[in-house]
Amino acid sequence: MSTVTSTPEAIAVRGLVKSFGDVAVLRGVDLDIRAGSIFALLGSNGAGKTTLVRILSTLLKADAGSARVAGADVAADPGRVREAISLTGQFTAVDDVLTGRENLVLVARLRHQPDPGRIADRLLARFSLTDAGSRRAGTYSGGMRRRLDIAMSLIGDPAVVFLDEPTTGLDPQARLEVWDAVRELAASGTTVLLTTQYLDEAEQLADRIAILHEGRIFASGTLADLKRLLPATTVEYVEKQPTLEEIFLAVVGGSADAGPSSEEPS
Ligand SMILES: Nc1ncnc2c1ncn2[C@@H]1O[C@H](COP(=O)(O)OP(=O)(O)OP(=O)(O)O)[C@@H](O)[C@H]1O
Ligand SMILES: [Mg+2]
Repeated sequence: MSTVTSTPEAIAVRGLVKSFGDVAVLRGVDLDIRAGSIFALLGSNGAGKTTLVRILSTLLKADAGSARVAGADVAADPGRVREAISLTGQFTAVDDVLTGRENLVLVARLRHQPDPGRIADRLLARFSLTDAGSRRAGTYSGGMRRRLDIAMSLIGDPAVVFLDEPTTGLDPQARLEVWDAVRELAASGTTVLLTTQYLDEAEQLADRIAILHEGRIFASGTLADLKRLLPATTVEYVEKQPTLEEIFLAVVGGSADAGPSSEEPS
């Protein structure tokens, strides 16, 4: 595991700071995300996940620090960053009155793509929406809408896709459908940064996971790396590995029995 820095970083964040008035939301965030990987940013409500995503997608300016996305600096070269990314927020950008196909064609036109109809048909097929393509999006299930939303965000082949809480509010079946769509993205080489409050989502989808807490990245790595933060409990011959939930609660301080042994000053 020590073949360092030969892989290009799709996202590199150094010492990012952002406050809103007196509220210091990001207090020095460092992050490296490898191209073509799925990276999950975990954090409680108000931890600053959306704030970080908004800075990385050039919608918001940081107070200090720097960030490069797809090789371009978000502050110095926001235009180049925008050309390389897409952002899917918590509320879908899908137009209910249009069919799934019409939604895709519209976005392809807005992004000045040649042959919007062909792009729409390809994406419908890729996200298993071909049969539903001629139906109004207003009749879609939550999972179908999300898949359509993700498909729309792919038009123009962005190198980096930000998904802010892609499955919040979806039922378990719809979540699985969205997970498949996200895996599909990464398989085609797209870098995915997703935020989530669902620990199992991070566990299932992400190559690497970071926990944002009190304005900083508290822990970051593969699930196996994070599991090493908490010692496995050995009872007789059965080893109990900590779940990601226990690690998360230990870091964020939400659980009495899963806390790290004695290093917290509180
Ligand atoms: N434009 C703003 N003006 C003032 N405060 C803001 C603004 N945007 C965010 N905040 C504050 O910054 C903090 C972080 O918000 P943010 O939306 O980034 O959190 P989050 O991790 O995305 O939370 P959630 O899980 O609820 O989506 C919160 O305390 C929020 O109230
Ligand atoms: Mg948020």
